Amino acid sequence: MKYKELGASGIEVSVIGLGCWAFGGGAYWGPQSQRDADAVVAAAIERGVNFIDTAEIYNDGESERSLGLALKGRRDKVVLASKISTAHAGEVRKYLEGSLARLGTDYLDLYILHWPINPTALAHFTGGQGAAGQPPQVAEVFAQFEALRKEGLIRSIGLSNFGVRQMEEVAATGVRADSNQLAYNIVSRAIETEIAPYCVAHQIGVTGSVGLQQGLLTGKYAKPEDVPPPQAHSRHFHQDRGGKDSRHYEDGAEKELFDALDCVKAISAETGLSCARISLAWILQKPFMTSTLVGCRNLAQLDANLGAADVALSDELMARIDAASLPVWQKLGDTPDYYENRGKSRIF
Ligand SMILES: NC(=O)c1ccc[n+]([C@@H]2O[C@H](COP(=O)([O-])OP(=O)(O)OC[C@H]3O[C@@H](n4cnc5c(N)ncnc54)[C@H](OP(=O)(O)O)[C@@H]3O)[C@@H](O)[C@H]2O)c1
Repeated sequence: MKYKELGASGIEVSVIGLGCWAFGGGAYWGPQSQRDADAVVAAAIERGVNFIDTAEIYNDGESERSLGLALKGRRDKVVLASKISTAHAGEVRKYLEGSLARLGTDYLDLYILHWPINPTALAHFTGGQGAAGQPPQVAEVFAQFEALRKEGLIRSIGLSNFGVRQMEEVAATGVRADSNQLAYNIVSRAIETEIAPYCVAHQIGVTGSVGLQQGLLTGKYAKPEDVPPPQAHSRHFHQDRGGKDSRHYEDGAEKELFDALDCVKAISAETGLSCARISLAWILQKPFMTSTLVGCRNLAQLDANLGAADVALSDELMARIDAASLPVWQKLGDTPDYYENRGKSRIF
């Protein structure tokens, strides 16, 4: 495993991190056994993964609870990250305390604001209700984060899904954020345009989410119809595909998506490497990336995915994948919010 510094925080994270959204089970990912969660966390740490990510919103706190159980006796071996929902941003200490209790720890290495503060994000986190009263001000929210950092309850402050103007707004408060967690994978490349270059220029570590496009890039789905509705509610898919979660009202880029996947499958057949390893190795070879998160629900998935850290794709293979993924990027555009309609992007 390789490690990189998270921004200028002095904290070293493994280039592959464990995403724990599925832990605890729930409607989005379905049932998840605690036995598997325990085994995945233990084996990941054994194999050098130190970066582990969850959020208070994942399965209504059950992801944090499950991860807390799996981390018993191992807390000091990991860089533990959790996220506060945007709707709770006015009361950072209160919601941090909730996360700490569920995780069974007395500090977080990284505490992240899940989405920037704006009306669409607030509506999403409150089930369409919007914020009660006035939304909190950015300066006030980050002053709260900074106070918690100074107290030692959190070691580093993180952003998630922030665009350039939103990062500038945070920088203007004088509070330093050391990382920005953003969707990034072969078929989700919008951050390459301006967000990743800004992060590099300002020493904000880019940590990737949805490294496998929620399972798609493992090659296990032959056609769009095979993708379960929750995992098909992003703008990659037609608006009718994502069931009740779909809210983008767009046509998607399904043909381009599966053409790009065909390229990954062809490279898999030529090299003998699995699609998952190729897809994650492609991310790791992008110089602006600090670490990519990947959700692993059992030991087989963990094993399949961690092998990516040892894969070196040639320049020719990198260029082939870049070219094959370009039509998806062009169709979905430079909007890095893959869930809301382009006109309502929460990231700018
Ligand atoms: N900041 C944000 O807004 C944000 C957004 C999304 C995610 N995240 C973070 O990023 C992490 C990673 O993203 P993600 O979990 O959504 O998606 P992902 O890593 O792209 O995909 C994970 C899912 O793919 C399937 N999978 C993984 N490895 C596999 C393998 N080798 N073979 C077959 N299937 C495999 C598993 O689900 P099945 O077995 O059910 O198919 C797994 O839950 C999350 O856990 C979370 O920590 C953050």
